[in-house]
Amino acid sequence: MSTNNRAHSDSWACLHAGEDRLGKNTSLTTDIAQTSVFALSGIDEMRKIAEGTSTAYLYTRYANPTTRVAEQKLAALEQAEDCLITASGQAATLCAVLAACVTGDEIVSMLDLYGGTLKLFEDGLRRFGIKSRLVPFHELGEIEKHFTDRTRVLFLETPTNPTLRCVDLEALAAKARKRGVVTIVDNTFASPILQKPLALGCDLVVHSATKYLGGHNDLTAGAVCGPVLAVSAARELMKQFGGCLDPFASYLLVRGLKTLELRMERACRNAAAIAEALQQHPKVARVLYPGLKQNDGHAAAARQMKAFGAMLSFEIKGGTPEVERFVQALETWVLAASLGGVESTLSYPLLSSHVGLSEARLRQLDVSAATVRLSVGIENSADLIADLRQALDRV
Ligand SMILES: Cc1ncc(COP(=O)(O)O)c(C=O)c1O
Repeated sequence: MSTNNRAHSDSWACLHAGEDRLGKNTSLTTDIAQTSVFALSGIDEMRKIAEGTSTAYLYTRYANPTTRVAEQKLAALEQAEDCLITASGQAATLCAVLAACVTGDEIVSMLDLYGGTLKLFEDGLRRFGIKSRLVPFHELGEIEKHFTDRTRVLFLETPTNPTLRCVDLEALAAKARKRGVVTIVDNTFASPILQKPLALGCDLVVHSATKYLGGHNDLTAGAVCGPVLAVSAARELMKQFGGCLDPFASYLLVRGLKTLELRMERACRNAAAIAEALQQHPKVARVLYPGLKQNDGHAAAARQMKAFGAMLSFEIKGGTPEVERFVQALETWVLAASLGGVESTLSYPLLSSHVGLSEARLRQLDVSAATVRLSVGIENSADLIADLRQALDRV
């Protein structure tokens, strides 16, 4: 592999980490090992694999060369010793958390979590006897009050969905470390281009690679990044649960990663311009964007992120009828419940990520019927702003 110990830039990692092409008469692009199983050179090789003394590939559910390229790129980007790619972001979170917890253990986390993670913690993991304590955003400063002798994991997400609140990773990870608690960060919204939680003292990073890492809305994948031992433990669970990624999807992920830095730069610039423009519009009640000084956690974002991201939310003056008219009038922005792709999309949290939540919980999360979430893509910002303005004018 061409990855070596020399420190490289993120753009180098995106393009070259994990690739094995230098000085070889081979394809420039990443080969797709579209196979479920590998031919072995002989019984001796099989014996070495069984004894754990060979690194030869055996079976794609365990590891695959194309997937390994994606893993090496992400490990380099997150400044991690190793990375595990999984079939989805959910699978990554499950493997990372279960690698640290057994029945009777507890997770401390935030109320402002991605809805799927909330369900996993409050339903799926509870069935395994693992309890979660979900702390409201404004109480995170006293996180230590929620740690017990059974707390094994502090699970954080920043910026949050959809209010783009940011939490201080360095401060919280330090408190967790003092108590021997492992800090796991969902870095999906920021991507490793903007935020590197391991460098801030966190222990593991998980991603929905479905979003910015893939970047083209054409694959579902996840990742766990961190120290070799922890990633190996997560890989063992991935092998048991069967949540591996198909090699072709890994190829798409590798291809998407090559432009990650460029896409993030453009999308972040667009988002900043859109936040500015929306603030000026008379039909907009409030803009939620970490780049704005009044946003909860602006200071934390300024400290720990390279730029303020490409996600933003805003409140339309009114409620569901106004949101409906706005969405119907859009000509470029697409209503879609994911994020992080090259095309600009929008979502309506009340009916997607936050569907079914009580009024009280929604108020606590600062989400209402007027909240619209934007995932800013890489189009020309003038086109994006013009479309938002004309649709808002028609509300
Ligand atoms: C922040 C965050 N984490 C995790 C996930 C889960 O990822 P996936 O859909 O790839 O399983 C999502 C999906 O929307 C997400 O937004």
